[in-house]
Amino acid sequence: MHKGDFFSEFLKEGKNIGSITPSSKYLVKKMIEPIDFSNVKCIVEFGPGTGNITLELLKKMPDDCFLLAIETNTEFCEKLQNIKDPRLKVICDTAEKLEDYLSENNIQKADYIVSSLPLAMIPNNVVKNILEVVTKVLKPGGAFIQFQYSLNAYKKLRETFKNVDLTFTPMNIPPAFVFTCTN
Ligand SMILES: C[S@@+](CC[C@H](N)C(=O)[O-])C[C@H]1O[C@@H](n2cnc3c(N)ncnc32)[C@H](O)[C@@H]1O
Repeated sequence: MHKGDFFSEFLKEGKNIGSITPSSKYLVKKMIEPIDFSNVKCIVEFGPGTGNITLELLKKMPDDCFLLAIETNTEFCEKLQNIKDPRLKVICDTAEKLEDYLSENNIQKADYIVSSLPLAMIPNNVVKNILEVVTKVLKPGGAFIQFQYSLNAYKKLRETFKNVDLTFTPMNIPPAFVFTCTN
C-alpha cells in the first residue's frame, strides 16, 4: 500500500489516524520483537492502518495461528482485505468490540495484542473500555504491545498492567515509544 494513501486519510480524519505516515521498518521490528512465535495461536492487531505490522506478523506467524486485525477506517479496511491470507481476518470496527469478534471466531483468548491505536487522541472512556477488554482476553503469559509518540499513556498502562517495559526508537517519523505490558 502506498504512503500517499496514508497521508490522504490523515488529511480527512487526522485525529483518528494519529500519524501522517505509516510506521517505519525499525518501529515494526520493535513492535514484533517481544512475540514468541514458536507457540502462538491467536494474535490481535488494533489499528493496522496500511498493514506494515500486519504483513510482518503474517511473515513470522506459524500456519495455524490466527490474526484478527481491527481497524475503524473504511479505506484502510478495504485495502487490508486485499491481503489474501487465510490466517488473517480484517474487521472494520472499533477495538472496543474485540470480545464480540473473538467469540464470533470461536476464540476466547489472545496470545498477543499488538496496538497502534492513537491513545492520546481517543476519548478517555473509550481507552478505558479498550484496556478493560485487553486484560480480559489476554492469555496468561501473553502481552499487550503498544506504540505511542509520547509517554502520556504510561500512567494508564501502569495502572492496568503489573509490568510495563518501555523501549524507544528514534528511527521513525515521529520517534516512538514501545510499551510491552504483561500481567
Ligand atoms: C498511527 S495509525 C497506525 C497504522 C499502522 N499500524 C502503522 O503502524 O503504520 C493508527 C490506526 O488506528 C486506527 N484506529 C483509531 N481508532 C481506532 C479504534 N478505536 N479501533 C480500531 N482502529 C482504530 C486508525 O484508523 C489508524 O489506522
